[in-house]
Amino acid sequence: MGLRAKFNIVLVFACLIGMGLAMFLSYQVANRNALAAIEQETEVIRGNALAVRAYTSNNILPLLRDRQDILFAPPSVPSFSAQTVFAQFRKSYPEYYYKEAALNPTNPDDLAEPWEADLINKLRADDSLGHIAIERDTEEGRFYTVAYPLKITNEACLTCHSVPAAAPAAMVDLYGPENGFGWQMNEIIGAQIIYVPMEVAEQHTRDTVMALAVGLGVAFLLVLTVTNLLLGRIVVSPVRQMAEIAEKTSLGDFSIPEYERPGKDEIASLSRSFNRMRRSLDSAMKMLEE
Ligand code: HEC
Repeated sequence: MGLRAKFNIVLVFACLIGMGLAMFLSYQVANRNALAAIEQETEVIRGNALAVRAYTSNNILPLLRDRQDILFAPPSVPSFSAQTVFAQFRKSYPEYYYKEAALNPTNPDDLAEPWEADLINKLRADDSLGHIAIERDTEEGRFYTVAYPLKITNEACLTCHSVPAAAPAAMVDLYGPENGFGWQMNEIIGAQIIYVPMEVAEQHTRDTVMALAVGLGVAFLLVLTVTNLLLGRIVVSPVRQMAEIAEKTSLGDFSIPEYERPGKDEIASLSRSFNRMRRSLDSAMKMLEE
């Protein structure tokens, strides 16, 4: 195998390993950044829902509280307004999702689906969990899903969620006496379930890694081409000429002109030494002939 082929095999091998390593590392970093951005999105959605809840408690409920026994207005319920506002938001961003899912909800629409109930039960089993985050595959794609526990920490909640007799009569008329009661203090009764699509972030990750692969590929091709050109000019072609001269000289043919490579590198010095050796050999032969 020629020098050039050996060199190229080693170079291509090193390039492939380098590219693989760089792409692997960049994938890790891009993926971590994408996940951080997604986590941020869910935090923002939750923050907004909590703000709507607070607004309802502080600004809307006082206006309607006195009339609740006669006409119960769901918009005075924080959970109702947070979810209704989000439903409005979803008209523009249908791939985002917010739900206050409960195991025993007042409004049947809030009943936890089996996978949501799974998350709620995990939160109930371990009170120290701040939240649970999972990646869920659905027909619409992959979703980053987070569940934040909904815990009863305020006695006031039990007015409407302990026994029907304690709740405003108009509310019981509207929602019935069956669901949404029997909640306990400090019980995790459900979870804020939020999910955001991972599609866009995953596409970003793929684009970043692809861009790096193309950039590195072009850079390596350039290195390969330039190295080959230099190798040919500086090493392979001079060595080939010297080999040819050595071959002829060894057979006693001194007619072939000397080859001297200009410069100060190793090949140039080899070519000069070789010429000196050839001249010495030539005169030694001549002396022998005489
Ligand atoms: C004035 C009565 C009332 C009070 C007080 C009240 N809720 Fe509710 N809550 C309701 C009603 C009514 C619904 C159903 C709203 C709807 O139609 O979405 C509800 C719904 C919910 C839901 C969604 C699940 C479900 O049951 O449908 C959660 C979670 C919730 N409430 C938590 C709380 C917490 C926590 C407190 C205390 C901070 C509280 N509630 C105080 C009346 C009340």
